[in-house]
Amino acid sequence: MAEQILVTGGSGQLGRVVVERLRAAEAPVRALSRRRRSGEGVQWTAGDLRTGRGIDVAVAGVSTVIHCATDYRREVDTVRTLVEAARWSGQTPHLVYVSIVGVDKIPLGYYEAKLAAEKLVADSGMPHTILRATQFHSLVRTLLAGAARLPVVPVPKFRFQPVDVRDVAARLVELARGEPRGRVADFGGPEVRTTADLARALLAASGKEKRLVSVPAPGRIARGYAAGANLAPEHADGVVTFEQYLAERGKPTALRYR
Ligand SMILES: NC(=O)c1ccc[n+]([C@@H]2O[C@H](COP(=O)([O-])OP(=O)(O)OC[C@H]3O[C@@H](n4cnc5c(N)ncnc54)[C@H](OP(=O)(O)O)[C@@H]3O)[C@@H](O)[C@H]2O)c1
Repeated sequence: MAEQILVTGGSGQLGRVVVERLRAAEAPVRALSRRRRSGEGVQWTAGDLRTGRGIDVAVAGVSTVIHCATDYRREVDTVRTLVEAARWSGQTPHLVYVSIVGVDKIPLGYYEAKLAAEKLVADSGMPHTILRATQFHSLVRTLLAGAARLPVVPVPKFRFQPVDVRDVAARLVELARGEPRGRVADFGGPEVRTTADLARALLAASGKEKRLVSVPAPGRIARGYAAGANLAPEHADGVVTFEQYLAERGKPTALRYR
């Protein structure tokens, strides 16, 4: 079958970079969004994984699906819709699913849904590859930026290993263009850092000085983070650091595919 790659969530943080990277490699790329979109070198297709509208057309004739769309409230249902449409297309494309390090250990609702979706993909009978990544730089920045608005910045005793979407996108494209491999090794950012350390980096990048205060974080979810279930220190494969990401923010061209 001729190569034709569908990127779901082609308008999202990660999907956008995956599309850009595939285009740079001159791979034939189709991108799914709920909205009608157009863009040079990309065949946009409109569809909704919640209702199923347009998904049959989106998957028709594709050799690979890189599933970067996510529905925070209906992850399992939307993955099921994708899997069923791909099966019915008669093509059995290679399905690449992006998940999160620690989905099996941290009892957050979204993580539980991601874990169930991983299982759905693994049991689908379709050729597949599953990659778990650590938290994206943008997520860690958003969490800390909220805390940094307070007069004193509360920091729980967690660690993060933030990763850049460009690094994750590069790995996904490599996996998507290779043989299906089932669940592969996790993918983490270049550094494991304490929340306090990351908060200091954010404050420094925004030219602010504030006192940090260590706060207890009770509960099972917090215990998962405190135990480091969100980390993949043995797979510190990303190269872009949190400081580099912060320095590049606001410079639109710098954040593009490299
Ligand atoms: N953020 C993190 O720290 C992190 C870490 C590790 C792994 N991940 C995983 O990486 C993946 C991508 O995350 P992201 O942060 O890039 O997501 P995002 O920016 O929130 O993008 C979500 C995408 O999903 C699409 N979408 C949402 N609902 C849809 C529906 N019903 N039908 C079709 N498309 C739909 C949206 O497209 P339209 O709005 O254009 O329709 C959008 O492009 C997710 O699976 C996430 O779990 C994220």
